[in-house]
Amino acid sequence: MTVTVIVGAQWGDEGKGKVIDLLANRADVIVRYQGGNNAGHTVENERGKFALHLVPSGISNPDTLVVIGNGVVIDPKALREEIDRLEAQDVSTKNLRVSGNAHLIMPYHILMDRSQETRLGQKRIGTTHRGIGPAYEDKAARLGIRVQDLLDPKIFRQKVEASMERKAEILRLVYHQDVEGLADQCEEYLAMAETLRPYIADTALLLWEAVRAGKEVLFEGAQGTMLDIDHGTYPFVTSSNPVAGAASVGAGIGPTYIDRVWGICKAYTTRVGEGPFPTEIEGETGEYLLERGHEFGTTTGRKRRCGWLDLVALRYAVRINGLSGLVITKLDVLSGIGEVKAATGYEFEGEICLEVPRHQSVFHKARPRYETLPGWDEDITAARTLDDLPQEARDYLAFVEEQAGCPVVAVSVGPHRDQTILLST
Ligand code: IMP
Repeated sequence: MTVTVIVGAQWGDEGKGKVIDLLANRADVIVRYQGGNNAGHTVENERGKFALHLVPSGISNPDTLVVIGNGVVIDPKALREEIDRLEAQDVSTKNLRVSGNAHLIMPYHILMDRSQETRLGQKRIGTTHRGIGPAYEDKAARLGIRVQDLLDPKIFRQKVEASMERKAEILRLVYHQDVEGLADQCEEYLAMAETLRPYIADTALLLWEAVRAGKEVLFEGAQGTMLDIDHGTYPFVTSSNPVAGAASVGAGIGPTYIDRVWGICKAYTTRVGEGPFPTEIEGETGEYLLERGHEFGTTTGRKRRCGWLDLVALRYAVRINGLSGLVITKLDVLSGIGEVKAATGYEFEGEICLEVPRHQSVFHKARPRYETLPGWDEDITAARTLDDLPQEARDYLAFVEEQAGCPVVAVSVGPHRDQTILLST
């Protein structure tokens, strides 16, 4: 049995949900280890179409245990709503477990996130306004409220009071926000505590037992490598570590238990929010990718910025995550686009660089150096083997594989589970 980490190899939205859902059939346990309801996976299978934000993608599989690990930040209201939506769609959540050590996104975190972004104006990060950054700030400052605190109202209130005191002042005096209702909104969390109680567990222990019992375990990364707070395009990043190494910390499982790491990568690139994106394309081709790829955020509905595949960033993702396999998604979107480009390097002040620039100012000004490959016009959504693909599409995949220095283990050619060319199991 295998312990696999699935990570985004780009700026998020690579189609991790579909890949997890595909592998979920064989998985005994699926685990989220970072991020929060800033993520968004749309999973489409025979049981229906589900928009998931916090709950791991394997939830629609009745035999899979799904775990929200300690590294995730949880908005209990959002979690409750997601559970209710799933139950309403006849998806049982009885196999969901939530770490008692995970931190809560409090109402004041959401207000803080919005206020800070508004204040930053042109310099904003383009966050999802879900309170992710401020919740992780409090965690690091040891002012966070954890899931387990919901089970002890006295402690919960004491901690909220201590944590909110200074923030309420900042919100009121610096950001001119109305903080009147905040305490009541925090109190509403307590009202939800009993309904969440059955889900709360020592998830690190559960995982250890699963691994020791030789179960198939999947870690589901949210966001992507380039949004990692340490390894991404800081400060235009999220506040957690989406990279594979974080699976260990964010779930409480030793790194030696992890057998393989698969990186998910679109056949082109998208990103939402601000920050450098060397291969971004504006105009007709960008619009083509946006429309054909339905590139609108699952969480915020925002238009995603679209561009050609960035092989410099992909090589970086292979290195930082120690990827052992690559899954290329949305290859079908490139059908009919004409010639296909991919950046193999960047140009900066006459120099060519093949690595992601160490200096942020360089990254902002880096220009892509493209290789152009012949495109294909055929509809490839019915392809199930490499041989079903036009030669040009196969050549493109071979080029990506060679440039990335990592084997392609699967190719996705449509949103459905079966629209996949699986090259490794
Ligand atoms: P935050 O995670 O809401 O703080 O947002 C920080 C940055 O990460 C922004 O650029 C967001 O657009 C981006 N981001 C957060 N979650 C996702 C995701 O699931 N997919 C893509 N981008 C994301």
